[in-house]
Amino acid sequence: MNFERTLIITGGAGFIGSHVVRLFVNKYPNYKIINVDKLTYAGNLANLKDIEDRPNYRFVRMDICDFDGILKLMQEEKVDGIIHLAAESHVDRSIKDPFTFAQTNVMGTLSLLQAAKICWDGNWEGKRFYHISTDEVYGALEMTHPEGVEPPFTTKASSGEHHLAYGEKFFTEDLKYQPHSPYSAAKASSDHFVRAFHDTYGLPTVVTNCSNNYGPYQFPEKLIPLFINNIRHRKPLPVYGKGENVRDWLYVEDHARAIDLIFHEGKVGETYNIGGFNEWKNIDIIKVLIRTTDRLLGREEGEDMNLITYVTDRAGHDLRYAIDSSKLQKELGWEPSLQFEEGIEKTVRWYLDNQAWLDNVTSGDYQKYYEQMYAGR
Ligand code: NAD
Ligand code: DAU
Repeated sequence: MNFERTLIITGGAGFIGSHVVRLFVNKYPNYKIINVDKLTYAGNLANLKDIEDRPNYRFVRMDICDFDGILKLMQEEKVDGIIHLAAESHVDRSIKDPFTFAQTNVMGTLSLLQAAKICWDGNWEGKRFYHISTDEVYGALEMTHPEGVEPPFTTKASSGEHHLAYGEKFFTEDLKYQPHSPYSAAKASSDHFVRAFHDTYGLPTVVTNCSNNYGPYQFPEKLIPLFINNIRHRKPLPVYGKGENVRDWLYVEDHARAIDLIFHEGKVGETYNIGGFNEWKNIDIIKVLIRTTDRLLGREEGEDMNLITYVTDRAGHDLRYAIDSSKLQKELGWEPSLQFEEGIEKTVRWYLDNQAWLDNVTSGDYQKYYEQMYAGR
């Protein structure tokens, strides 16, 4: 079969990657989509069950740090685009094991960049290296507010629009990088390498920095799926510190749509911030999760509030993240499709309807899926 384009999507068996792979496989039957994933604890092929037999999809189990393997694959498949999501992604794990984060996030990205540079060999026409990064590279924002006005209050983003916020400043693309955790330091370093390959060799790169994602298929070590699962089992909900930290939440399919748009229409060498101007204090989200989960389980709404358990704060816990996505909205016309209340309802419902997925992931059984699926092939 002849394909118009052949793309590698790295980390396609993970949370965001699986949504991006699904979107591209469904929307572009004329593209060959090669999902390159090492299948770490965070990679789960069951996330892609619905598209795994499509003629325009191929899965390759490979570590992105395997430079020779990546180069060979790119040459054999005549790859003309890379959408790079593979990473170690959990801040708490990075505090315990920073080496793995430096290895995958920095060396893995470098291996892909170098392979792309050699494979494309200065023939940049129609080629694209798209690196997916995070808002955490910008560090933490303060909770400043106008005198006499308590947050959340309305403030003006650079687009001129007013948004509910916990501080007057937002992350804009021109901000200096100030990462605090080993995770964000490794992501920041990988971003610098991507830009260095653009500036030094002319590699056609684009970088995006997105806020916190939520939605189906997120590994239940992250706040939202972990807490839904704990509420379901009536286990304690470990709230770090006072639960006052603010995160800016985006439904994962809106991120995937932004990636599609930017991959095709974003300007080479540019950076775009992605976020929905949707700031929430952790404790307020947790209360929404409890009320929604209780209601959908037929319990009395709010009866599980007593599961809230304040625990020692995360080391170096960033206070507030808030993305200004005006550039993306103005230049490429992207905007989030879902209101948060709608997205949270959908998300809680998905985890409750997919208890087998959650049980499989929490028991570790999902890691046998690959061996069973590919046995004898
Ligand atoms: P995830 O942890 O759910 O998935 C990561 C995937 O990468 C897994 O499938 C894993 O098997 C794979 N992987 C890890 N190391 C690998 C290696 N060495 N070689 C090949 N594959 C490897 O992550 P996620 O939350 O989906 O995040 C995806 C990307 O988006 C990451 O780059 C992350 O930094 C970025 N990001 C995430 C968020 C968020 O809220 N989750 C927000 C902004 C940006
Ligand atoms: O901002 C984008 C980032 O969002 C991504 O780059 C990361 O890959 C992704 O993991 C996420 O990072 P956070 O650290 O913000 O996500 P997490 O779900 O781990 O935590 C969200 C908030 O909830 C944070 O303030 C810490 C707090 N928390 C988290 C857990 C797991 C708790 O209070 N208790 C918990 O048990």
